[in-house]
Amino acid sequence: MAYTKRFDGRKADQMREVEAKVGVVPRADGSAMFKFGDTIAIAAVYGPRHLHPQFLQDPQQGIIRCSYDMISFSVTERKRPGPARRSQEISDVTARSLEPVLLLSQFPNTVIDVFINIVQADAGTRCAGINAASLALAHAGIPMTDLVGAISVGSLGGSVVVDLTKEEEDYEEDGEKAATDIPMAFTLRDKKISLLQLDGKVKPEDLKKAIEAGRKASEAIYEIQKEALRGLK
Ligand code: CDP
Repeated sequence: MAYTKRFDGRKADQMREVEAKVGVVPRADGSAMFKFGDTIAIAAVYGPRHLHPQFLQDPQQGIIRCSYDMISFSVTERKRPGPARRSQEISDVTARSLEPVLLLSQFPNTVIDVFINIVQADAGTRCAGINAASLALAHAGIPMTDLVGAISVGSLGGSVVVDLTKEEEDYEEDGEKAATDIPMAFTLRDKKISLLQLDGKVKPEDLKKAIEAGRKASEAIYEIQKEALRGLK
């Protein structure tokens, strides 16, 4: 059975309602909110600032440090506060997805800290977090060659659909998990992939389709991000 009609009636290539705003955390050096439907991420940037302890410093370039977390009330079952393997992994992949666009060599011995909090979660939180972080870095005035746009694309019962909800991530056929979640990020002008993860199985031709769908969606995200930054003036 193919998944043709989406639970919320969206077209296969249609994202949820997307919203972006910068300057949501006035005391940070830069900040942004990014929303995919019921998934809301807030990012706050501090730095570049001197990195302590000193042995962590890189005299050639600054480093980016991301810290992703979901607020306890962001999900239906209260999320236990504090660090966990999942948040550590998402923090690491977020930093790696953003690194290629940052001109870190201009800031030797420093750190740029990016704190990402998910205030409401309905799947796709790492992607919303990356989009918010990319905007917050630009808002902080960090020299960047490009913005980064992230989107989760799914392969569900033979169909490729963008921006999965939690209900779609949990999709089952014959009592078995039948959804594959493929979060990806693109540098927005160069269209290079800076994140590609895969949770589940996918046929090679569907992976190609998914990447194309993701690339297209990232173009729409770019426009929304640019609009949010323009709103600054
Ligand atoms: O959020 P994302 O899709 O990037 O990552 P995930 O690990 O695949 O999580 C998918 C979704 O599961 C999250 O967005 C939340 O809606 C939900 N989740 C949850 O309800 N409780 C958790 N402790 C972790 C995730």
